[in-house]
Amino acid sequence: MPTILAIESSCDETACSICRDGVILSNIIANQAVHEQYGGVVPELASRAHMQNIVPVVDKALKSAGVSLQQIDAIAFTKAPGLIGSLLVGAQFAKSLSLALDIPLIAVHHMQAHVLANLIPSFRDGHPQPTPTFPFLCLTVSGGHTQIVLCESPLKMMPIGQTIDDAAGEAFDKSAKLLGLPYPGGPLIDKHARKGDPERFSFPEPQIPGLDFSFSGVKTAILYFLREHSATDTRFVEDNLADICASIQRRIVSILLNKFKKAAVQTGIKDLCIAGGVSANSGLREAFLQMGQDQHWNTFIPPFEYCTDNAAMIAITGYYKYLAGDFAGLSESASARGEW
Ligand code: KG4
Ligand code: ZN
Repeated sequence: MPTILAIESSCDETACSICRDGVILSNIIANQAVHEQYGGVVPELASRAHMQNIVPVVDKALKSAGVSLQQIDAIAFTKAPGLIGSLLVGAQFAKSLSLALDIPLIAVHHMQAHVLANLIPSFRDGHPQPTPTFPFLCLTVSGGHTQIVLCESPLKMMPIGQTIDDAAGEAFDKSAKLLGLPYPGGPLIDKHARKGDPERFSFPEPQIPGLDFSFSGVKTAILYFLREHSATDTRFVEDNLADICASIQRRIVSILLNKFKKAAVQTGIKDLCIAGGVSANSGLREAFLQMGQDQHWNTFIPPFEYCTDNAAMIAITGYYKYLAGDFAGLSESASARGEW
């Protein structure tokens, strides 16, 4: 029953989770409000905030799990991809702890961890939730990545489709910025979209071959659309915000799900998951569940707290790597780019 302490610091969340035998005992996240005023994450400020946050976050995760440092069997950390300064804080902290406690170190790929968030045991209304069976497909949609991953086992997975330009989260955030909404705009588009008419405005669906995605065309179409309407009506965005958000969300969701559907048909795989920050989007969740019902596919969505960046997903990946004896040395280096 290994007890694993996991650290996630790839972007602007400092997070720590304790997991025992694949069960999450604690999941603590410190967000960084410092970036809001700049309209995006400032890498240097993120690194500094991680340095301030990491000790209290780890401390809180241990206390809330009721576990002492001496009971930890291994330290897992996010190795890649992400902001290099941010990754280095987590990696160095993890290495120091592993050296001081003389316990193994486990290097985790952030995108693999997003996928495995679907394997974290969870409960809804007191009932254990089902998890996908292998092989399954996962649509991983975050601020930096958009991928369809074919997952054969916890440690054997590969992307079979990905974005050729912006990620889905970026498409949400950049659209929000054009609407004058603060960063990160994805959740705000979601909020306004709930009150809007998704059919009111139409944005183009790109025709990209295979299982790859593109969002830059939609972004440009939204820019021209807003420019054109605001030129004749300065209150256009204000007066139509909910409908604009609902229409943007509908198009981003349809781009994502049409490709995911194609991947499911092509592979014949019937267990489908979504993961990553954008999987918190209510429009995507609803349409994804509906697609599963219509096609008789099994659909899985991690609980909200395991969708956006968190350390529980690093812990569960660390757990599977521990079982496989897949440990890292102290020379393991963090990397901004994340080859699989
Ligand atoms: O996975 P994540 O927390 O961090 C990365 O690894 O990038 O994803 C963050 C992204 C941001 O672009 C954020 O705007 C988006 O997820 N996001 C949402 C929602 N919640 C988070 N986008 C649309 N609707 C949401 N409810
Ligand atoms: Zn992420």
